[in-house]
Amino acid sequence: MKRVGLLTSGGDCQALNATMRGIVKALSHNLDELEVYGFINGYHGMIYGDYRLLTNKDFSGILTKGGTMLGSSRTPFKSINEPDEKGLNKVDAMKQNYYKLRLDCLFVLGGNGSQKTANLLSQEGLNVIHLPKTIDNDIWGTDMTFGFYSAVNIATEAIDCIHTTAASHNRVFIVEVMGHKVGWLTLYAGIAGGADVILIPEIPYQIDKVLEAIDHRTRSGKGFTVLAVAEGAVCAADLKLSKKEYKKKMEKKQYPSVAYELADQILQKTGNEVRITVPGHTQRGGAPCPYDRALSTRLGVAAAMAFLDNDFGKMIGIVHDKTVRIPLKDSAGKLKVIEKGNQFVKEAKMLGISFGDGDV
Ligand code: F6P
Repeated sequence: MKRVGLLTSGGDCQALNATMRGIVKALSHNLDELEVYGFINGYHGMIYGDYRLLTNKDFSGILTKGGTMLGSSRTPFKSINEPDEKGLNKVDAMKQNYYKLRLDCLFVLGGNGSQKTANLLSQEGLNVIHLPKTIDNDIWGTDMTFGFYSAVNIATEAIDCIHTTAASHNRVFIVEVMGHKVGWLTLYAGIAGGADVILIPEIPYQIDKVLEAIDHRTRSGKGFTVLAVAEGAVCAADLKLSKKEYKKKMEKKQYPSVAYELADQILQKTGNEVRITVPGHTQRGGAPCPYDRALSTRLGVAAAMAFLDNDFGKMIGIVHDKTVRIPLKDSAGKLKVIEKGNQFVKEAKMLGISFGDGDV
């Protein structure tokens, strides 16, 4: 008899259920006896012993279902070694629950923060396999994370819808796209949606260059401009501020997010009417797209194979369309950003898309 635990941790995304289904279907198909325990709401369930025994029925009909049947929560890694409000040692508690259930492995479906905790548990001696979940696609060591393409579809649809109304009114439109500290989602959705300006955290923007791009379109007879702006986009001028000055600026909480600051700057300097759209959490919602269903199924099967090989302490990724096992200690704590010289960015610039850096 083999016993495994599953948990989904951090912000949810599409294809979490599909991934768990892939793992369990492949394990069930290859083992005579299997018990699967699902921890409720991520590491929280593992700390406080909140779990349930899952049956094959739980994994049926969930390939296309968004969200996560186990629930999820954020359990910040930075405080994982601090006792909870009642003095409980969280890491010890997780270990105890793992041993109490006599688990042979814990499968963690999570993003960067969850991966650090997975690595810690692995270093503490538990058998852990991590699967890369996030709409941000920012996990080092894998070309792709599940959830990303589903979110690209939704963000692109938002930009598509904005295009028709933007054209009718001759306005400037900003669509603020999720992605935390990286610009993958904005880059892909921006290109797919035909945005005229794409602003991402990796390329700090200069407001004058953004205005130039808008002006260029106006002068060439295009009455409207669509900007795809990452929620983490930064203004080059802000990077020049000292830590103290930046903190002071942020404390003022003048704008709810970067899109609003940018809109204000455009209005002040050009008088242009600007409208903002923030698709927000819709980008994490709904059914996984076919690509994510296929990817998550492949990752799930590859995770099951790693288990059958007793190969633990690994993240299952995909590189050049092949599933791979990356040591958790190599990936944990690293962010996959859009590097300088990225080919996709270069191609976008060839199309005349502005990244607000004045570089063409
Ligand atoms: O990491 C996924 C993500 O959706 C980011 O793109 C975004 O910055 C963040 O989570 C939002 O987190 P929350 O759901 O906690 O508001």
